Amino acid sequence: MQVNESRYANLKTIELIAAILAKTRAELIKQIKAVESYLKTVQIDIMDNDFVPNKTIGLEQLRNLPAGINYEFHWMVQNPEKFIREIKNKNALHLVHVEAMMDFEKVKKAVAAVGGKLGIAFNPETSIEKVLEYEKESNYFLAMTVHPGFSGQKYISEVEDKIKILRERNPEYDIEVDGGINIETIKRAIAAGANRIVAASAIFGQKDISLAIKELEQAAALAIKARYTRTEVHG
Ligand code: DX5
Repeated sequence: MQVNESRYANLKTIELIAAILAKTRAELIKQIKAVESYLKTVQIDIMDNDFVPNKTIGLEQLRNLPAGINYEFHWMVQNPEKFIREIKNKNALHLVHVEAMMDFEKVKKAVAAVGGKLGIAFNPETSIEKVLEYEKESNYFLAMTVHPGFSGQKYISEVEDKIKILRERNPEYDIEVDGGINIETIKRAIAAGANRIVAASAIFGQKDISLAIKELEQAAALAIKARYTRTEVHG
């Protein structure tokens, strides 16, 4: 049976992204430097101790970030529009949460004003109906597979149902998954339809960062292969 490759175009270009949850500028720079020769993108986690019960570095620490790598900002904050306006990196992706207090029109304006791209993030318990309210606002979604706030938590596999629905409806979108990713769960997330995979402890918690990245990428490659095989059998 013929595999309809264009339908899964995104799955061929899986990207692994390192999540950085730093409390100081020194930590932030150290982690960017640790992965910059292996990965194209880092995700900087920003928490305000209000939207989530944890606080990371503030806006003033995000000035003059090293060039040569792409940035995503995961805004785990209330009123993300106020933060986004202060970011000077052009072409960055700004991920805002559907559960956060925000003026969404102002968020869109702020992202446009700083020359960025908007992405829509959602928490594990958020209903797919709520997520789909934003379906036409962006072609970039982030499914949280842990409760945001801390790294090192267990992957919540129930979120896969929502990833599947989003992927089924939007074959060309970028769908990112974040939380509890390791060499096993990465396969499940890809099988569900994710094509961008975020990991913190599976990268920074390992002794050999380049080996950890290689192993995650190998697991991702297997998952893509399995997905094509399944399509051939049942498609
Ligand atoms: C959730 C953060 C995640 C988290 C991922 O609080 O947005 O990026 O740090 O950490 P791991 O990969 O360790 O689950």
